[in-house]
Amino acid sequence: MTDLFSSARFGAIDLANRVVMSALTRNRAGDGNVPTALAAEYYRQRATAGLILTEASPVCPQGHGYPRTPGIHTDAQIAGWQGVTDAVHKAGGKIAIQLWHVGRISHPDLQPEGALPVAPSALRPAGQVFTGREMKDFVTPRALDASEIPGLVENYVQAARNAMDAGFDGIEVHAGNGYLLDQFLRSSTNRRTDAYGGGKEQRARLLLEVLDAVCGAIGNDRVGLRLSPVTTFNDIRDENPQETFDYVVQQLNPRRLAFLDILQGTGGAPREQWEPFDYDRLRALYDGNLILNNGYDFVSGQAAVSGGKGDAIAFGRLMLANPDLVARFRRGAALNQPDYQRLYTGEERGYTDYPSLTD
Ligand code: PHB
Repeated sequence: MTDLFSSARFGAIDLANRVVMSALTRNRAGDGNVPTALAAEYYRQRATAGLILTEASPVCPQGHGYPRTPGIHTDAQIAGWQGVTDAVHKAGGKIAIQLWHVGRISHPDLQPEGALPVAPSALRPAGQVFTGREMKDFVTPRALDASEIPGLVENYVQAARNAMDAGFDGIEVHAGNGYLLDQFLRSSTNRRTDAYGGGKEQRARLLLEVLDAVCGAIGNDRVGLRLSPVTTFNDIRDENPQETFDYVVQQLNPRRLAFLDILQGTGGAPREQWEPFDYDRLRALYDGNLILNNGYDFVSGQAAVSGGKGDAIAFGRLMLANPDLVARFRRGAALNQPDYQRLYTGEERGYTDYPSLTD
């Protein structure tokens, strides 16, 4: 029977088990948003996961929306990531980088030359952004002109090539959680009247163009995708999520990606608060490898994989606090709890100092 400890092949990536480390923003990049030796140590410690998905990593300067998040668009960043992938590979692990553009979830203080953030439409998100010094209200973004879209797609292509140069096993295109590609996908944030807005086919166009371009550049068998059909994080909604995302996954089938990574519900929110969505229907419509994420523990993760609801489970909080999560699962050992005060601060504290069973 297939379970969390079974090996798997996702496209060109061989996984020793189906325990995936989910992408986690940690805000510890060095100057120039370069991944550090400390990041290499953090990921190395977690290399017994079947697959590590890195923290979200902007594809271009405009894609940044938080302080100290590592990019994948400069030579120094590529070199920094090479240190990470070398450390993970030496420890026998596999690692894919999550490619990010935050779109409107940024602020002029975080943008080149203090420019407005870009988005499908000039709609201001409710809420605030941390600029590195203080919390500020989100601003009304600038709607991208259609003539800018090819350049945007090229940013993803270059980032995917950079990821291969840095030694990654694959990439994950981040099209969830209210960031740029999700802002195009979902109806509350996309009011465009050109080829990139309107019905689901138009709203999905940019995502599919990005996927086709990165698959062309590095091979479909190294490309994964993250979606979050009903999250409300970052002030986003869709008037008919089932219809939108049924369409998207059907468009994915002929593209034969390495994996699809679905965040169920809203990140961090309890299950009772999730908007209804039929994930089994998505599973049935989708032909490829499916990673599920959000609040799973060992028992529910085992049940989901052995029951065929997904092919792997991504763990965030558990993997953050338990570098040797796979060994702990195998032995039924007690788990460390995350230090929530040090998710986004603390350098090595709350980052590389969680004990393993052998420590
Ligand atoms: C975050 O930085 O808080 C963050 C980044 C990417 C996500 C979700 C949250 O998908």
